[in-house]
Amino acid sequence: MGRAKISLIGGGQIGGVLAQLCALRELGDVVLFDIVENMPQGKMLDIAEVARVDQFDVDLKGTNSYADIAGSDIVIVTAGLPRKPGMSRDDLLGVNAKIMKQVSEGIKEYAPDSFVIIISNPLDAMVTLCQKVTGFPPERIIGQAGVLDSNRFCSFIAWELGVSVRDVNAMVLGGHGDTMVPIVRYANVNGIPVMEQLVRKYGEAKAKEVMDAMVQRTKMAGGEVVKLLGNGSAFYSPASSAIAMAEAILRDQKRVLPCCALLKGEFGVDNYYVGVPCVLGAGGIEKIIEFELDAEEQAMFDNSVAAVKGLIDELPSILPDMADVLNS
Ligand code: APR
Repeated sequence: MGRAKISLIGGGQIGGVLAQLCALRELGDVVLFDIVENMPQGKMLDIAEVARVDQFDVDLKGTNSYADIAGSDIVIVTAGLPRKPGMSRDDLLGVNAKIMKQVSEGIKEYAPDSFVIIISNPLDAMVTLCQKVTGFPPERIIGQAGVLDSNRFCSFIAWELGVSVRDVNAMVLGGHGDTMVPIVRYANVNGIPVMEQLVRKYGEAKAKEVMDAMVQRTKMAGGEVVKLLGNGSAFYSPASSAIAMAEAILRDQKRVLPCCALLKGEFGVDNYYVGVPCVLGAGGIEKIIEFELDAEEQAMFDNSVAAVKGLIDELPSILPDMADVLNS
């Protein structure tokens, strides 16, 4: 059996880390595409020239031609501008929608059978746009946000409780914006509720304050990194998160990961892409796992979906030539 082929559209900060992780894990042969001439070729040469040290046997190619993504099993998209300090992800809509349209047309033409994982922001709107342009079945167009947002939440809990993050489970659902929904009720350390641990440590009132602060930090975690970096946004963590998703698909792992998926009535949402728990395997999004939200969670989730809808409603004015498809 031949090796898998992974194409990365966007060879910037995240694209470079993605390429290196694909190689280190020997996920398959990798193509790195960017519109900037020579840069993706340079990055791939750089990574390839350490194959002996890192002990991997995969082919790495940088390119400026979409033809090179032909036959891809998975395409991961990071093309687009990152935020600058003070910007929200939503501020990227106008410029990144135009880029995403172009990228989606390239994928549709040259890699029509691929699974597509999108990282570009604003995430939920970019995933929606890619699905509309490609017309691919929704189980093959997936957004990376929840894996990272959930991991951030898990990290804050682990640091607070002084336990290994490997034993922490917590999920963040909804849109990948400031309205995202960390699910506090089910946050646990090897099955033991986090809230109970916080109450034992601090008492009722302070425990709630501590949890609220972790929830708030989770929602703003991307911005915290943007502010510190001063130039660009998080890149190691989104890359690793997307690789976990790609690996789940390529190795048919049936992992349960929060992904940006098209809802058809689940969680009370019809026909919008937002973050929900999914089973990821060889069929892409093989299942959306629905569970009962309590009234407060549902209200936050609905609020988050409303924010995503607001962005989707803006797309036809940004891409007037696509208004018909976008409104369909
Ligand atoms: N086609 C392909 N690549 C493009 C296009 C295009 N039309 N337009 C821009 N790019 C490339 C840029 O040349 C750049 O190399 O996308 C790359 C983006 O890389 P960075 O600017 O380093 O951004 P990065 O940190 O990788 O983030 C990419 O992911 O998390 C999101 O908000 C983030 O939207 C941003 C995206």
